[in-house]
Amino acid sequence: MLLHLKLGLPKPFLLPLLLRLLRPLGASSPGVLAAPARTENVVELDFSTEQPVHLVSPAFLSFTIDANLATDPRFLTFLGSPKLQTLARGLSPAYLRFGGSKTDFLIFDPKKEPSFEERSYWQSQFNQDICKYGFIPSDVEKRLQLEWPFQEQLLLKEQYYKRFRNSTYSRSSVDILYTFANCSGLHLIFGLNALLRTADLQWNSSNAQLLLDYCSSKSYNISWELGNEPNSFQKKAGIFIDGLQLGEDFIKLHKLLKKSAFKNANLYGPDVGQPRGKTVKMLRNFLKAGGEVIDSVTWHHYYLDGRTATKEDFLNPDVLDTFISPVQKTFQVVEKTRPHKKVWLGETSSAYGGGAPLLSDTFAAGFMWLDKLGLSARLGIEVVMRQVFFGAGNYHLVDENFEPLPDYWLSLLFKKLVGTNVLMASVKGRARNKLRVYLHCTNINHPRYKEGDLTLYALNLHNVTEHFQLPHYLFDKEVDRYLVKPSGPDGLFSKYVQLNDKTLKMVDDQTLPALTEKPLSPGSPLSLPAFSYGFFVIRNARVAACL
Ligand SMILES: *[C@@H]1O[C@H](CO)[C@@H](O)[C@H](O)[C@H]1NC(C)=O
Ligand SMILES: *[C@@H]1O[C@H](CO)[C@@H](O)[C@H](O)[C@H]1NC(C)=O
Ligand SMILES: *[C@@H]1O[C@H](CO)[C@@H](O)[C@H](O)[C@H]1NC(C)=O
Ligand SMILES: *[C@@H]1O[C@H](CO)[C@@H](O)[C@H](O)[C@H]1NC(C)=O
Ligand SMILES: *[C@@H]1O[C@H](CO)[C@@H](O)[C@H](O)[C@H]1NC(C)=O
Repeated sequence: MLLHLKLGLPKPFLLPLLLRLLRPLGASSPGVLAAPARTENVVELDFSTEQPVHLVSPAFLSFTIDANLATDPRFLTFLGSPKLQTLARGLSPAYLRFGGSKTDFLIFDPKKEPSFEERSYWQSQFNQDICKYGFIPSDVEKRLQLEWPFQEQLLLKEQYYKRFRNSTYSRSSVDILYTFANCSGLHLIFGLNALLRTADLQWNSSNAQLLLDYCSSKSYNISWELGNEPNSFQKKAGIFIDGLQLGEDFIKLHKLLKKSAFKNANLYGPDVGQPRGKTVKMLRNFLKAGGEVIDSVTWHHYYLDGRTATKEDFLNPDVLDTFISPVQKTFQVVEKTRPHKKVWLGETSSAYGGGAPLLSDTFAAGFMWLDKLGLSARLGIEVVMRQVFFGAGNYHLVDENFEPLPDYWLSLLFKKLVGTNVLMASVKGRARNKLRVYLHCTNINHPRYKEGDLTLYALNLHNVTEHFQLPHYLFDKEVDRYLVKPSGPDGLFSKYVQLNDKTLKMVDDQTLPALTEKPLSPGSPLSLPAFSYGFFVIRNARVAACL
């Protein structure tokens, strides 16, 4: 109970919590912190492990850099931070999608000279192994960091008013982006500008061709997209492009790729927003016309508008459940037009417009992120790309000082512990609402685990500790617990987390901390404190679907 009192929530939030806390104190024995499991809080889990319900990509958890980072390409040199690369490498294998609204306002200029910052980036790594050392000289980094808050305001304003100016980027910008991806073990997905149009509104591919030529000359291995949220082109650029036209444009791009060094490169799209209203029609028509040439269908999802989202929203299971119906709708459209085509979340986060201030970058955002990963896997989405790894707004995984935020640590744990085979878990005899459980085979790239092991991940949105009991046949198994709680005085709205009671931080710019398990004795219930989440690896489970 002390745990709650230390959360240090802002006052309006604290009062209701306090009131709730005072109630159970009377009922249970006083002064016992790790209170013995009260029977009403021990829930039995049901596992269905006969066979995987889905198989996700090894890069299931992937992430983005918003194309707006290239609005002023000097800021792309941030990607030369050795710390940022260490953090990105931790999440490999993954896709790095370079996209967002700015995608359709960026123009490649092969003749453009690199900026002073870009030149110092290349000079500083002269004669060094490009992946082993930092490339952004620290004085340049410091100066750009001082300028960043102004740039960030500008980018968020463009986003807010949906008034985007065209910007050009140089060969050097492309090189910096590719180097970041390549040195971090990420596969780059580059979004091409779809708003370059001929007089009769067909896609004008000439600028894309310049970029393809340049990238082939450098033997870059890149996958491609064309356009971002074309369903709102009208709002952003006063141009209406329908799904059939967009499908034709993709076919044209596919032909260019076939004729280039990118013969075997993948193509993803159409990166539409949530499937509602006219967007459903656009998606359907796009798939009819151009579905054949894409390797996965991409769409975007945000739970909330970052400007109006509240703390309560972030902890509300009904908000988490709003994700289910757009997923189902998307699959419905895909199954009708292009059966069995893979579906990806091409861009997703808690709240749009850069995220919700003081929420999207805190521990509280982890419930949305973990639940979205869990539901996506269970519903058959193959890849989920988190907006953003680094950049403007506050839905980033790593902040402007290159410090990892709670969702970074959550992503790292997920990447290390969760495997690609998706199984089913549920809480017996209870609405799953506030206590949400997901089950996969364990990621056997983890040195401690082997085939047949299970990873259960769970989030507890109840205001009391919940205890799980594993299904009978797993009762005697050893379990490793990875419990994540907020750290520090800001409670649920902290930017720090503890793993098994120890605050996570980088060892140095080159080294991530060990993610140390807490082995539980066989048969003990698995506990999850109020408003926390965690991973439980069930060892030697010998589940056939995971062998
Ligand atoms: C927990 O929250 C519920 C509402 O969801 C409330 O009815 C209950 O009294 C609270 N319990 C405690 C222990 O505060
Ligand atoms: C961006 O450039 C393209 C191609 O020159 C042009 O058609 C478009 O109107 C420009 N957009 C803006 C917002 O200036
Ligand atoms: C990075 O580039 C090297 C050499 O071009 C290549 O062998 C390697 O596969 C690339 N890695 C990624 C992740 O693209
Ligand atoms: C496509 O764009 C290029 C560059 O702006 C321009 O030179 C060319 O005329 C355009 N092609 C068509 C068919 O509009
Ligand atoms: C390019 O990258 C993809 C994805 O990582 C990989 O599967 C493919 O083999 C690579 N192609 C080349 C030519 O290296």
